[in-house]
Amino acid sequence: MIIAIDGPAASGKGTLAKRIAAHFGLHHLDTGLLYRAVARDVQRLGAALDDAERAAAAARALDPAELDDPDLRKPGAGEAASIVARIPQVRAALLEFQRSFARRPPGAVLDGRDIGTAVCPDADVKIYVTATPEVRAERRFLEMQGRGEAATYEGVLADIRRRDQRDASRDTAPMRSADDAFLLDTSNLDIEAAFDTAVGVILRKAGQRGRA
Ligand code: CDP
Repeated sequence: MIIAIDGPAASGKGTLAKRIAAHFGLHHLDTGLLYRAVARDVQRLGAALDDAERAAAAARALDPAELDDPDLRKPGAGEAASIVARIPQVRAALLEFQRSFARRPPGAVLDGRDIGTAVCPDADVKIYVTATPEVRAERRFLEMQGRGEAATYEGVLADIRRRDQRDASRDTAPMRSADDAFLLDTSNLDIEAAFDTAVGVILRKAGQRGRA
């Protein structure tokens, strides 16, 4: 069972993916961390984030064991990730790791921007999680405040809009909903309601597969 969860920044897809994986006993991969880690490694080398050659080399050398680095969650890391994520060779270098992770029994939940469209186009269930930029900015702002990070709502909203634009307009695997994805708008849903809806969608799909 492969479940693809895509959506823009701070849509709640990460929390949702983690809970779905725990609920169904599946592996979980936050694919955003891969791009965040590549950006970190490029910066450590002192190279520019849009240096395609160095970024692709960093992606090829990436050690997935180093993804639990708390620095990857820091403000600025998402923005940096979206710059390396535009580079086709970086995306290509990360593809096989994501695909083999997805194939690990008994199955996996992957969250990102292009899971349903490019990484796992044959996923059993695809969910595209979204919410208005204002709602997403509010959520991310509260999260950052909770961690004691300096941030303003306006600054977070501007970051989200910039990232949406960059992620949706790139040539390779742009952020978009797969045609066969279930659209989950969480603008007016809390995490419990979003989780219940997603579980319903997954059970329905699994039932259809069982009957097929
Ligand atoms: O948590 P948040 O939604 O803010 O970001 P993330 O999922 O960690 O992703 C950070 C950045 O990585 C995104 O803005 C994308 O540019 C890039 N990304 C991507 O291109 N493809 C993915 N499958 C996942 C992330």
